[in-house]
Amino acid sequence: MAFFINLCSLFSTFLFTSTFLIHVHVTSAQSNIVLANFTKLPFPTNVGAGGSLAFDALEKGPYAGTTDGRILYFSRFLNTWLDYAYTSPNRHNDGTLGYDRSPTCGFTLGLSFKPFVGLYACDPFVGLTFVLAGGPAITLVRNSDASPPLKFANSVDAASDGMVYFTDTSSVYGPPDAKKSMDTMDASGRLFQYNPTTKKLTTLLSQLEGPVGLATNINASFLLVTEALQDRILRYWLTGQKAGTSELFLSFGGAQPSKIKRTQEGNFWVGINNKTSTGAPFPLGIKFSPEGELLAVVDFSKEYQRRITNVLQQGNELFVAGVNASFIGRYELQYN
Ligand SMILES: *[C@@H]1O[C@H](CO)[C@@H](O)[C@H](O)[C@H]1NC(C)=O
Ligand SMILES: *[C@@H]1O[C@H](CO)[C@@H](O)[C@H](O)[C@H]1NC(C)=O
Ligand SMILES: *[C@@H]1O[C@H](CO)[C@@H](O)[C@H](O)[C@H]1NC(C)=O
Ligand SMILES: *[C@@H]1O[C@H](CO)[C@@H](O)[C@H](O)[C@H]1NC(C)=O
Repeated sequence: MAFFINLCSLFSTFLFTSTFLIHVHVTSAQSNIVLANFTKLPFPTNVGAGGSLAFDALEKGPYAGTTDGRILYFSRFLNTWLDYAYTSPNRHNDGTLGYDRSPTCGFTLGLSFKPFVGLYACDPFVGLTFVLAGGPAITLVRNSDASPPLKFANSVDAASDGMVYFTDTSSVYGPPDAKKSMDTMDASGRLFQYNPTTKKLTTLLSQLEGPVGLATNINASFLLVTEALQDRILRYWLTGQKAGTSELFLSFGGAQPSKIKRTQEGNFWVGINNKTSTGAPFPLGIKFSPEGELLAVVDFSKEYQRRITNVLQQGNELFVAGVNASFIGRYELQYN
């Protein structure tokens, strides 16, 4: 049985409490989360935006894949971003090549650490890669290894079942044509499983409409995958009687879900992009449980007059990446 959450009713309760920090009261969970102390973690010069976020098992980070083809991590100690790796074999790490979101420099859109093993990264210009500090990455699945070839490798999750799951947002349009993909309601996205031991690549779902985000639950009994063009999240069962089947999990009428990220305690955050009545971007973060229960809604529109792509909780902090935002935003989470 799938859940259908109608956010309209929730909205009417808080849209008018227009304070700097949006305060959301979610009765179902008796949970209040307030965003506080917004800080920008500005990227180095030449970085247009970050496309992915992750923390490692030692809670270092965030790591971010950036438009210049690098994977950077934020050093709290030095209060700045440092180089970690890069995914495109065509990129030189000395900055002589690639500040152009091109096949040459790459752009990592998905990041997921397998604790104490390494970092899996999805780059639409390369495929699925495995990264050790210092890069370049090892390419595990080249775009041409899939049939039809990958065009838009996007989110990745190194799951607790030992498998690596990732999405190809479209097998027709790559990132430069993302708008065309939206305009034509492109339904050529796919969900893949990669087995690092056997190196076998399996297509789990095809004909998806904008699978941008992906996250497994903590014991990998299911995974969640967004269909951004249908404003919804699907659940795909990995184990149990329903293994291999999918169902509607959450639906966000009128707003497109982006990346999904699991929290340390096993809940999830998803960024959703709505529009105001004037057409301006209206980005929100939604926290929900593995059962699909809504835990919190937070409003980023004050700090992000743009679409957001990633919302990641680490401890008591929330990190947010936006389209064409040359920084990662950090909020403190306060609980009432
Ligand atoms: C999106 O915004 C419209 C109004 O602009 C509102 O009716 C709708 O409920 C919103 N949906 C979500 C999921 O935020
Ligand atoms: C965060 O903001 C609150 C007020 O909202 C303030 O009292 C507190 O000192 C701030 N914390 C930090 C670490 O800046
Ligand atoms: C797996 O995790 C889900 C929550 O994500 C939980 O409902 C389920 O009981 C767990 N299954 C096992 C076998 O532990
Ligand atoms: C991104 O931002 C820069 C300025 O920061 C602007 O010149 C450019 O047009 C923006 N691009 C998009 C696609 O919004």
